[in-house]
Amino acid sequence: MAGNRAVVYVGPGKVEVRDIDFPDLILRDGPGVNKLNVGRKCDHGVILKVVTTNICGSDQHMVRGRTTAPSGLVLGHEITGEVIEVGRDVEFIKKGDLVSVPFNIACGRCRSCKEQNTHICENVNPDRPGSAYGYVDMGGWVGGQSEYVMVPYADFQLLKFPDKDQAMEKIRDLTMLSDIFPTGYHGAVSAGVKTGSTVYVAGAGPVGLAAAHSAQLLGASVVIVGDLNEERLSQARSFGCETVNLSLHDNLGEQIEQILGVPEVDCAIDCVGFEAHGHGKNHGEAPATVLNSIMQVTRAGGQLGIPGLYVTGDPGAVDEDAKIGSLKIRIGLGWAKAHTFVTGQTPVMKYHRQLMSAILSGKAQIAKAVNATVISLDEAPRAYGDFDRGVARKFVIDPHGVLK
Ligand SMILES: NC(=O)c1ccc[n+]([C@@H]2O[C@H](COP(=O)([O-])OP(=O)(O)OC[C@H]3O[C@@H](n4cnc5c(N)ncnc54)[C@H](O)[C@@H]3O)[C@@H](O)[C@H]2O)c1
Ligand SMILES: [Zn+2]
Ligand SMILES: [Zn+2]
Repeated sequence: MAGNRAVVYVGPGKVEVRDIDFPDLILRDGPGVNKLNVGRKCDHGVILKVVTTNICGSDQHMVRGRTTAPSGLVLGHEITGEVIEVGRDVEFIKKGDLVSVPFNIACGRCRSCKEQNTHICENVNPDRPGSAYGYVDMGGWVGGQSEYVMVPYADFQLLKFPDKDQAMEKIRDLTMLSDIFPTGYHGAVSAGVKTGSTVYVAGAGPVGLAAAHSAQLLGASVVIVGDLNEERLSQARSFGCETVNLSLHDNLGEQIEQILGVPEVDCAIDCVGFEAHGHGKNHGEAPATVLNSIMQVTRAGGQLGIPGLYVTGDPGAVDEDAKIGSLKIRIGLGWAKAHTFVTGQTPVMKYHRQLMSAILSGKAQIAKAVNATVISLDEAPRAYGDFDRGVARKFVIDPHGVLK
């Protein structure tokens, strides 16, 4: 049997490439595997040879030691691969298919899944609704920053690319379908972006850039991206966004007024989450900054899309309240402005097929927007460090060297 190698979380600031078991159609015990999930049979699953698997800002929360992720956890929830083995109960997915894996694991059988809410599937994580590969508190499904990975519920979950050769030509774009393109798009849709909207996107990381590109696809008239990182802001300008450098300016409304003539936007998207920094010169960590500032700059009646991650436990939080996810949010302001808030994991399956078509037709240019950068599995630990330092890149791991 072939071996397997994977990116493993070792401890705060440390990831390593290690040998792990070749996957099987069963979820075995290992670091982070929920006891109630051990031994779970997955005859409805497939084994994939991983073609691409991306590093995500969500992984960084764990690698920075800001979650309770255990040492030894195999990372990776953004997976694209070729099917090399199919389980007994898989009917339609075939060996050789090239597929995108939604990062949310979902059974297709529970009430949430039947209502298209695959981000809160009730049957895959014994602790709470919702799950993902290679992630803390998500049931223990083994991550896919590896050579091979097992994917359950294959018929329901997998998005098959219609033509393999065509797909390999656009693989740098298609690899974004497992998470950040649907996530950015969901952020924009849930913020109510439509033709002519003015939009503020907080964060110019890959998710923020994906949200900005999505807002453009939805017809926004102006997209303003805010961050404290000038290199990432220049990446946002490269595809037509306006930008605000929040390390230089603490009054976001004033900056928006200089661009739009009014201090408010129609729609706002939080692509930062709980590790947010304050604005202005003394910009230490201030976890509620983005939530409070988007309420301030969004017009009354507006919608706030919040893909940025907020946690229920943060060992590295700035204060005791934040350690359990209680933040100082000015909810009175949001209430007074009758804002709608949309939070949570992205239901990837609501969007991935249409976004695939947008990529294949040439309408969407997501790889360019996020500056997709292909690396080998062995380069992953260094890429984690570079990404943490804020380079304007989305790292795409090519574990078998098939893209070069
Ligand atoms: N909801 C979902 O399903 C989902 C999916 C993917 C990622 N996420 C989350 O989305 C967030 C962004 O992901 P990413 O990969 O782009 O992460 P990232 O860490 O690369 O980007 C975050 C950016 O926010 C910037 N930032 C910090 N404070 C800010 C502030 N006050 N205003 C504006 N920008 C600020 C940082 O400088 C950084 O560039 C993360 O929290 C991630 O966990 C959620
Ligand atoms: Zn991700
Ligand atoms: Zn389900």
